[in-house]
Amino acid sequence: MDSSEKRCPPIVSSTSINGGFGPGLPRSRAFFLRGDNPRPSNPRLTTMPAGKKEPVLPPARELTPKGRRIANDYLRRILTASVYDVARETPLEPARSLSRRVGNHVLLKREDQQPVFSFKLRGAYNKMVHLPAEALQRGVICASAGNHAQGVALAAKRLNCRALVVMPVTTPRLKVDAVQALGGEVLLHGDSYSDAYTHAAQLQQQQGLTFVHPFDDPDVIAGQGTVAVELLRQHEGPIDAVFVAIGGGGLISGVAAYIKALRPEVRVIGVQTADSDAMLQSVRRGRRVTLSDVGLFSDGTAVKLVGAETFRIARELVDDYVVVDTDAVCAAIKDVFQDTRSILEPAGALGVAAIKQYVAQHKLKGATLVAITCGANMNFDRLRFVAERAEFGEQREALFVVTIPEERGSFKRLCELLGSRSVTEFNYRISDPQAAQVFVGIAIQRREEIERIARTLEKHGFATVDLTDDELAKEHVRHMVGGRSELAREERLFRFQFPERPGALMRFLAAMHPGWNISLFNYRNQGADYGRILVGIQVPRGDGKAFDEFLRTLAYPFIEETGNPLVSRFLQ
Ligand SMILES: Cc1ncc(COP(=O)(O)O)c(C=O)c1O
Repeated sequence: MDSSEKRCPPIVSSTSINGGFGPGLPRSRAFFLRGDNPRPSNPRLTTMPAGKKEPVLPPARELTPKGRRIANDYLRRILTASVYDVARETPLEPARSLSRRVGNHVLLKREDQQPVFSFKLRGAYNKMVHLPAEALQRGVICASAGNHAQGVALAAKRLNCRALVVMPVTTPRLKVDAVQALGGEVLLHGDSYSDAYTHAAQLQQQQGLTFVHPFDDPDVIAGQGTVAVELLRQHEGPIDAVFVAIGGGGLISGVAAYIKALRPEVRVIGVQTADSDAMLQSVRRGRRVTLSDVGLFSDGTAVKLVGAETFRIARELVDDYVVVDTDAVCAAIKDVFQDTRSILEPAGALGVAAIKQYVAQHKLKGATLVAITCGANMNFDRLRFVAERAEFGEQREALFVVTIPEERGSFKRLCELLGSRSVTEFNYRISDPQAAQVFVGIAIQRREEIERIARTLEKHGFATVDLTDDELAKEHVRHMVGGRSELAREERLFRFQFPERPGALMRFLAAMHPGWNISLFNYRNQGADYGRILVGIQVPRGDGKAFDEFLRTLAYPFIEETGNPLVSRFLQ
């Protein structure tokens, strides 16, 4: 063990374990119960504190002789790296709206704007351009779940060589298509990156190809380090910290080496997801740790074992680590969208998610913080999930189960109590003669409101349980409220289109005859033009005419579904 190995490990942000944190944001479109206007965001944060307060950050770590040596060795490699035959110098842009909201200067290094929508082509090209001519003639091979593959394919196209790319069969279609469109030969093999990697290693031997590692190679690391060359040139003023997503560690190794060689006072902070934190665990234990499983949401950083070289660099040069959860990443994707109208992939948004957490943890004001927005290869069908979870990541939606008496008018009373709050979800199915369990989602500005809402409901006799952090509620139960009920006699079912505007539900409830009971309600704000709502109403036979009149005067478009065969299969 050398002297550097006896040092304390880097500080690890405790916020990492606690999950996301975000300041209040303007409310999104949702189902308003009554006329109200979204409140403006916190006025105290609408002007930048302009660096008046000193950031209260722990100082950047003191480099050991070993760390200095590593940084200096890589400095030369990085400065002589060749990437601009394929890569472009990406802008460093202020994230104005996010900066205002978090009270710090947030800058985005827009690596999502590379020709293959991630930084990965820098490392791949630098590796390949340094290969001897015979090796290039035989061709290269890589294993990748996506972005590295595109980098290799583009580099191969530019260098006119063969590129065989082994991808797990689970790779999103978007990424397979992109590699093929660049002329890469794709071979789908195995369920995970490790399977693809093993297979690629065999093929490499059999076919005499050169393996282009996605992160654990000095030339790849040096290529990724050119991101930092641009960054320091683009912003010559003070930088408090640069936040870098970590998968296998190639990007952060290159970035940290360059920054620590030239501006050691700039903190380099690694970001990982809670379910894929191999580098953090390895640094903590002082040896490379293989994770048994990794979460795939941030597929770009889903790596079970970091590189030997990247571990050697990161443990010497990275100042701190932040671990973020899925909801925080989704919120960060939205933050970047609001500022740039671009959509990052999850790995690409880790840095931004970490900045928000770090700012909250250290109560930072006026600091200059850079996130490398390192990728935008997002599968379109993921957007629905991202949009949904962003609300939780921003702490903008609270979920409750509220128990109300199973009696006429109590649903309306509940809605009245919620008052001007915008309801994002309402799910209910009659199931008990005495008590009704209503699943309610409510838009909030900040977390403290959850408690206040619950207290108000409790005060009026509605037992309330907070489900905001309950995965079972968020992932499953919300979709399962329904089913058959013995109590649903004389029930008619209607699909209504309610206008997504204040007062729409209250108007509906107010117009209903007190003798009619709501036996089913299913609404989720989908950000659509209209609220699509399924309602079951128990209407006594003799009230048919009055009910028709109610529908006519309400004038909300509807389709009666009582006769739909699905109703007898699932609901009655
Ligand atoms: C978008 C994106 N971000 C971050 C990473 C992590 O990079 P590294 O493996 O060099 O740590 C990757 C890796 O492929 C990526 O594609």
